[in-house]
Parts: sequence; structure tokens; C-alpha cells
Amino acid sequence: MIAIGSDHAAYNLKLLVEEHLKEKGVEFEDLGCYGPERVDYPVYGQKVAEAVASGQYEAGIVLCGTGIGISLAANKVPGIRCAVCSDTYSAKYTRLHNDANMLAMGERVVGPGLAMEIVDAFLSTPFEGGRHAARVAMISEIEKKYNK
Ligand code: RB5
Repeated sequence: MIAIGSDHAAYNLKLLVEEHLKEKGVEFEDLGCYGPERVDYPVYGQKVAEAVASGQYEAGIVLCGTGIGISLAANKVPGIRCAVCSDTYSAKYTRLHNDANMLAMGERVVGPGLAMEIVDAFLSTPFEGGRHAARVAMISEIEKKYNK
């Protein structure tokens, strides 16, 4: 089960991603926003990130104008590794090497066709583990240092 969220700037892209997930048979829950009215992206970055960090969802997808603001908010939640991707190579490798548990994209950056390919690359790629696991653990150590 995937948690998905966006601000107003990426509301339309979110609807398209949801259609795409439905076609692929991927279950998801939309944690807002629920219309094109102006909202604040940190609210939805936090909401999806907390839901993913709680273990309730396997992964999260967050969307805003650039993908950056909402990813910055998501990455403040301990245990979250949210990668902004505008290409499929990054989406694949952030799973293989970083074990990213959230994907962020920008509606004002990527077209809908590319966005769906990024989603597919992200969701279909497993974490490689091995030497990369030690590095991911190092990220968690940084987090622990500042979250006492
Ligand atoms: C909203 O205008 C815009 O600032 C937001 O969607 C996002 O791009 C922030 O990073």
C-alpha cells in the first residue's frame, strides 16, 4: 500500500499518478490535498512521511510544484529517505543504493508521461543491500545524533 500526497501545485499530477496506479493494480491511499485550492506543502510532506515512517505504508509518493519543498518537509521525519526525481535513472538508483522509501516529483518540472515512468522505476526496483546498507545506516546515525 502506497501513501500519496500533494499540494495544490501538483494536484493534477497526483490525479494522473493515481489513475496510473489504479491501472497497474497498485493500492494507494490519498492523504490530501483534495482540491486545487492553495495549501501548504509541508503539511502534506509531513502527513505522508509520518504515515510511511509508522510502517502503515510500504512507500510514499509526494508531489508539489518542484518536488523539492515537499521532499524537504518529508525528510525531517525520522526514518524517511525521500528522493526528488526528474529522471528514471535517479528513481531506479535511489531504490537500489539509498533504499529511498519516498519519491517526490514536481508537476512544474516533469511531464505526465515521464512522471509515470519515474513512478514505475521507483516502485519496481528493490534495494540492493550489501555495501549500500552500511551507507544507509550511516544516514540513520546522523539522524539519531540530532533527534535525541
Ligand atoms: C507552490 O507555489 C510551490 O512553492 C510548491 O508547490 C513547491 O514547488 C515548493 O517547493
